Parts: sequence; C-alpha cells; structure tokens
Amino acid sequence: MSDRDGIREHLKYYRDLGVLGVTTDPKWREREAAVAKPAAEPAMEAEASVDAAGALAELRAHIGDCTRCKLHTLGRTQVVFGSGNPSADLMFVGEAPGADEDEQGVPFIGRAGQLLTKIIESIDLRREDVYIANVIKCRPPENRNPEPDEVATCEPFLSQQIAIVRPRVIVALGTFAAHLLLHTDVPISRIRGVVHEYQGASLIPTFHPAYLLRSPDRKRDVWDDMKKVRALLNDRP
Ligand code: URA
Repeated sequence: MSDRDGIREHLKYYRDLGVLGVTTDPKWREREAAVAKPAAEPAMEAEASVDAAGALAELRAHIGDCTRCKLHTLGRTQVVFGSGNPSADLMFVGEAPGADEDEQGVPFIGRAGQLLTKIIESIDLRREDVYIANVIKCRPPENRNPEPDEVATCEPFLSQQIAIVRPRVIVALGTFAAHLLLHTDVPISRIRGVVHEYQGASLIPTFHPAYLLRSPDRKRDVWDDMKKVRALLNDRP
C-alpha cells in the first residue's frame, strides 16, 4: 500500500468512528496533561510490574500444554494465554482464539485484532500498554461457540489473570465475554457502554471487533464506549 493510500485509510477509519477533525489549540494539550496519570513512584511501579509478570509466568507454566478439556483433541495448535503489560490499567477480554491466534499463540492478531489495535490507539494508548486475553485459551473447531464444559474449565484462568494484572478498567469484547463476566443474557446492544463493577474494576462491554468488521456502522458506538474508558482511566481516585 502506498503512503497516500495508508493515510487515506487511516483518516477513513477515524471518520467512521465519528472523529470529525483535529485541533491545534495548545489549550487542549494542557487540559490533557492536567488529567493525565500522575507519575507513580518509579521503583514501586517497577516492583509491581515484576511481581505481576512473574505471577503471570507462573500461571502460564501451570496451564502448560493444557489437556483439561476436550479442545486439545479437536485440532487446536497451542494454548493462547494472553499478552501485553502485566500491570496494565486497561484490560480487554475476548472470546477465544481464531485461526491466526491459534497459529501464532498471541490473542487478537488476525483482522479483528488489527481493528482492536486501532481501537486501542484511538484513545492514545499502544497495544503494549494494555493486557489482552480471552475467556477460552484454545481455539474451538471452526470457531464454533465455546461449550459450557470448556468455559467452566478455562474461566478460572481468566479470573486469575484479572486478579494478577489488577486492571482499573476492563473492556468485555462482544456478547460472549460480556455475558460470561456479568452473568447476564441481556443483549450486548443494551449493555454496551454501561459501566459495571467486576472484581474491583470498572467493566464496560462493547461490540466485538469481528462484529465491527461485518457492521462498520457500529464503530461509532465503540468510539463512544472508548471515550468512557478514557474518562475512567483519567479519573484517578
Ligand atoms: N476473537 C477473539 O475473541 N479473540 C481472539 O483472540 C481473536 C478473535
């Protein structure tokens, strides 16, 4: 793709989100700086991050080449554990790995994942600033919905990841993750953008990026939800 096409695609993406322009007003930057995260004690932050990284590594080792449910017999290549900052303020939870994730062992790296990266960048964060995981760590065959026994086996690992990372904000991506984490079956279109409480964090459900690939007109809803996420992150107690 030429630079020109790349820029055009980039601008189109933000237009689809409902971003109508940019400002060069220096006051805007000052305002952003005023609400930005205050600098934490660097030594304490580094220590917490090492602890969390160690605890995640331990959990990953404990899961091993998992054979606890039938998915290991149904064609999956490997366990897709999670990736990103072990002490992130913001965590994304998806459903289960797809074909690309199964092949590479990293969550959200296929087409939906590339859209997720753009969504993260739309609130001025980088993918490596956040933590990303799925409810189910192994790819279900033909990307079918995870079955109750698979969920029951795998969900405790997600719960432990959340307890280790201790994000301040969790975004549940799509129906499956939102319903599971919130123990509800209210349609995602009604619960998206609503701030819930989960294990001491604020949890916001939003549409899954794979759904946005099929229904790009819903990108604006996700942009609205992400503005709430940014406000929650800026709003330090
Ligand atoms: N969809 C998900 O829910 N998770 C992934 O990792 C990829 C696609």
